[in-house]
Formats: sequence, C-alpha cells, structure tokens
Amino acid sequence: MSLAAATRSVHVRAPGKINVYLGVGGRHDDGYHALATVFQAVSLYEDVIAREADDFSLTVSGVEDDGSVPLDDRNLAMRAAKLLATATEHRGGVALEIRKSVPVAGGMGGGSADAAAALVACDALWGTGLSPARLHDLAARLGADVPFALHGGTAVGTGRGDQLNPALARGRFDWLLATSAEGLSTPTVYGRLDELRDEEGALADDPPLSLDVPIPVLHALRTGDPWQLADAIHNDLQAAAVDLRPDLAVTIERGVAAGALAGVVSGSGPTVALLCADPETAQRVQNTLRDEGMDPLHVHGPVAGARIIG
Ligand code: C5P
Repeated sequence: MSLAAATRSVHVRAPGKINVYLGVGGRHDDGYHALATVFQAVSLYEDVIAREADDFSLTVSGVEDDGSVPLDDRNLAMRAAKLLATATEHRGGVALEIRKSVPVAGGMGGGSADAAAALVACDALWGTGLSPARLHDLAARLGADVPFALHGGTAVGTGRGDQLNPALARGRFDWLLATSAEGLSTPTVYGRLDELRDEEGALADDPPLSLDVPIPVLHALRTGDPWQLADAIHNDLQAAAVDLRPDLAVTIERGVAAGALAGVVSGSGPTVALLCADPETAQRVQNTLRDEGMDPLHVHGPVAGARIIG
C-alpha cells in the first residue's frame, strides 16, 4: 500500500440515545418484539476512525479491557464494515479505531452508534457513495437501534424500532445519566418482560403486534416543555429491568428527590435518564447526587446523528 493510502482516514462521531418513551408489544416469530418508541440522541458520543488497510481490524479505547467489547466479528462496527464491503463489492479492508464514551451494555445504543459510525466512515473512506436510503437498509440489518444512530435528533421508531419517522422536538432537554458499572443484556431484559407478562397473566389479550406512541409524548416534545415531558415519559421494559436490578428504582427515587422532574430506565437499562427543568437545575441536581456518592453525566438532546468531523 502506498504511504498516501496508508495515511488516509475518516473520523466519524455518532451519539448515544435514550428512549423517552418505549412501548413493547407482542413478540413476532423472529423473536423481536413490536415496539413504539421515541428515541432522542444525546450529547454523549462514540468516535470511530477508519483507516485504509488491506484487512479488517479493530481497536477499542475508553473501556475496561475485560472482553465486554469484542474485537472480532461479534463487534457490530466490524460487522458494519464487512456488510458494507460485501454490499458494494469493495475489495480491501479497514482498520477501525473506536473511542468509547457511551456505557457498554447500558441501554444507550453505544454498539449501535459504533455500527452507524463505521458505516458512514467506510462509505466515505472507500468512496462507495451509498444513498441515505441504502445506508438505512444496511443499518437496519445490523440491529434495531442502528438506523436511529445514523439519523439522530428525535424520532419515533416502530416495527422493531427500526422504522423511523422524525418527531418534531422544540428546544433542548437536559438529562442526567446515572450509569452502572455492570451492564444488562438486552435479550435477557426482553425475556424477563415476557416472563413477567406470563406470570401476571393479567393481560386479557395478547400484547398487540402494532402499537403507537401516545399523543401526549409527541405533544410534550413539540412544545419543548420539560414538565409536560416529565408526565409522559415511560418505558415498558422498566419493570423487567428493575426486577433484575432493584437498585435502578432507588436511583430514580434519589434523582427525583434531588430535584429531577422524572426518571426513566433508558432502553433495556441499566442507565437511568433523569429529566431536569433546565441546564442550571441539572447542574444543581448533579452536585447534590455527587454529594451522595453518585456520579451522573449531564447531557442534552436532541443532537445530530453520525457525522464526519474534522
Ligand atoms: O437488534 P438488537 O441486536 O439491538 O437486539 C438485541 C436483542 O434484543 C434481540 O436479539 C432481541 O432479543 C431483543 N429485541 C427484541 N425486540 C426488539 C429489539 C430487540 O426482542 N424490537
């Protein structure tokens, strides 16, 4: 490889997400549940640098070297690069470098952000020039949350969460993220929800296979009013996540006691998102929680999806 080729690189930044609303319906035959969700991209980012190379390789920084992030084909960014190469018949590889800031297995779509960033980075590096629609299709094949990491902003996700429609969101929402050292496995949390629903036997009918986001959630986002949104945020997976990790309910209680308007488990958890009235309040609540031994991150949303920077 020439020196020029060896030094060619593309740097892409993609955001983590929280689920402002997450309704879970029944399970389809493919094992995936019907969803109606509202994603919001927040200002906590994954950085992916793609460098021209003959083969495919991956390095990761910003996480414990404990095997929690695989470096082989189980890694979603690696799968994204190879899927793009196959789909475009690109010969040659890429050396991917991932700098992580989004918690691993935290319910914030960090792995999905890596995959979205890798798609955008390799598309630019290789000059494959795919249309946004084709990139979206490839993203959906990688995972239900990957298309949203491409698009960013605030969006309604239906189907498996991968059919996206932008949601009108005014202004800025301030969130504190209480992260956990121990992650939660997404399939385990969905499985526990199914068990809880079976055990309760309370549902007169099977959970629906098609569902909508409630109007008050969309209205609160449109007005940009955090008090309205605080009344509307909800996550059907929360009961299952709290069943597996009862401390998450305590985190929400402590956040609200410290001055947050409301708290919700993000996605399948264990990250808890605490909604605050404004940046100043978020800072005050963050200080109070720090005095109590917690260390929540202050982020805001919505922010843009996967973008080339530099
Ligand atoms: O698509 P992704 O790889 O993120 O999904 C991980 C797992 O989460 C799936 O294998 C499935 O067990 C569960 N899941 C689900 N229904 C969805 C999305 C994810 O059951 N809509």
